[in-house]
Amino acid sequence: MKAAPDIALAVIGGTGLYRLAELEDVETHQPPTQYGALSGPVRVGTLAGRRVAFLARHGEGHSVPPHRINYRANLAALRALGAQRVLALNTVGGIGERFGPRVLACPDQLIDYTWGRISTLCEEPGSEVLHVDFGDPYTPAWRAEVLSAARAAGVAVVDGGCYGATQGPRLETRAEIARLRRDGCDLVGMTGMPEAGLARELGLDYACIAIVANWAAGCGDATEITFREVLDNVEAASSALPPLLRMLLQ
Ligand code: HPA
Repeated sequence: MKAAPDIALAVIGGTGLYRLAELEDVETHQPPTQYGALSGPVRVGTLAGRRVAFLARHGEGHSVPPHRINYRANLAALRALGAQRVLALNTVGGIGERFGPRVLACPDQLIDYTWGRISTLCEEPGSEVLHVDFGDPYTPAWRAEVLSAARAAGVAVVDGGCYGATQGPRLETRAEIARLRRDGCDLVGMTGMPEAGLARELGLDYACIAIVANWAAGCGDATEITFREVLDNVEAASSALPPLLRMLLQ
């Protein structure tokens, strides 16, 4: 059954993005799902006069590592609350030269290097087997809307790029990043999958704004990537998000 479209937008926040401070009249929901517990509460509030849901993917205290996130429960809950359009905010490392720290990008492709995660709704015996089309892993029309809102809001967002989803929670070796580069990845993150695939199985419109927090291993001059650098760059780059979201909601 398709959910009622009473939530104009669902935003899933990644590392460094645990709240949407601009939400007003916030209600908290944590609906039970057939897949188990969500990462944390869903904050539903008003932004630009529309209802918006926000969920911190790692939990509001960043307590859930990428491979332990219950991606199915998170997305099923957002859908049950009435969301149809999901904007995933993912903190990433940059590989391609256009994707340096503090850049925002809206990838159009991905490669999944994760393993051992429940990556489908068809996990339970007896569930319907789905072979969803995934040639364009991000919903093209919804991506186009996000990009045009960014342009209208004067927010610089790189259009396109390939997101490589790694297992984490450790960062990658230089050799792993060199391989991702050879494979055509521009960005690397730990949470892009199975989220995008599950969103497709659930029939949700799904697009990603990747927030580049650091050069991936071996791509910049740094000999080490620190969590401080990641958080500082996410915080700096995130100031562009509220105007983008407001424009998206108009
Ligand atoms: N690799 C994977 N995930 C990340 C990175 C990275 O360099 N930076 C932020 N998330």
